Amino acid sequence: MPDKLLKNRPLKKAILGAVDNLPPTPNILHKARAIIADPNSSFKELEKLIINDQAFAVKIIKIANSSYYGRVKKVSSIQDATVIIGMKNLSELITIASASSLFKKTLIGYELPARAIWRHSIGVAFGAKIIAGMKYPALADDAFSAGLIHDVGKLILDEYVYERKEAFQEFMYDGQQTFLEAEKEILGFEHAEIAAKVCKKWNFPKSITVAIRYHHQPSRLMSNKLAHIIHVADQITESTGMDIDGITLESSGNSLEVVGLQIDEIAQLMDEITEYVDQVGDTVGGS
Ligand SMILES: [Fe+2]
Ligand SMILES: [Fe+2]
Repeated sequence: MPDKLLKNRPLKKAILGAVDNLPPTPNILHKARAIIADPNSSFKELEKLIINDQAFAVKIIKIANSSYYGRVKKVSSIQDATVIIGMKNLSELITIASASSLFKKTLIGYELPARAIWRHSIGVAFGAKIIAGMKYPALADDAFSAGLIHDVGKLILDEYVYERKEAFQEFMYDGQQTFLEAEKEILGFEHAEIAAKVCKKWNFPKSITVAIRYHHQPSRLMSNKLAHIIHVADQITESTGMDIDGITLESSGNSLEVVGLQIDEIAQLMDEITEYVDQVGDTVGGS
């Protein structure tokens, strides 16, 4: 085993311990996913589940009234939301409301305000959903969920990055190296690896866990379309100025071809992502 990996083993153990100690995902997310996946389920069951948690219901109504989801008509109750927004969009709202509570604090190690990582995350979620919808529609729901939490590993790593602030600054002093490269060099692993452990802990489907694990190097998994979709959505979102990893479209390897995205589609996507984030981003989370 290389020296660096050997040296960082206790650190990795400590970080994985921190992942183990994370609180479980809100039950509501898993219950809602199960209801939505069941063809025999009804709006009523979903309504009942949401109404049981008042704070959660308020969040759902807020997002439902954002200018993106609330275009058709404003909603004032969960009953309204299920009818006006529909089951499919409601599932998206539940995912956003559940994830929003994760992105509440500034990442002092990464020097990222909560709002920046939240906007990046919902940008990638939306971009991934649109790309999947265009090219592989069956993956659209998973693409949205995976996009939303693809960088959750940063939340865990932040305190360890902060403890090594000087080493990170030194490594990145000339602006040639990204945080991602610094993670690998200084910690011996990257946030995607930790994010995959979080997904496992939270019982996310394996397809999402694997795609998140390889969202920086999807070509290591030849046939995993979801990993390529998240990778491309991540880079397109970074190109809109919502950049937190310093990666560019030029570093996308063969992902654009795998996903089948054309240059003119990229420009269009950049506009759509920016609009979505502006309309939905500040309704919940990131502050
Ligand atoms: Fe990332
Ligand atoms: Fe990202």
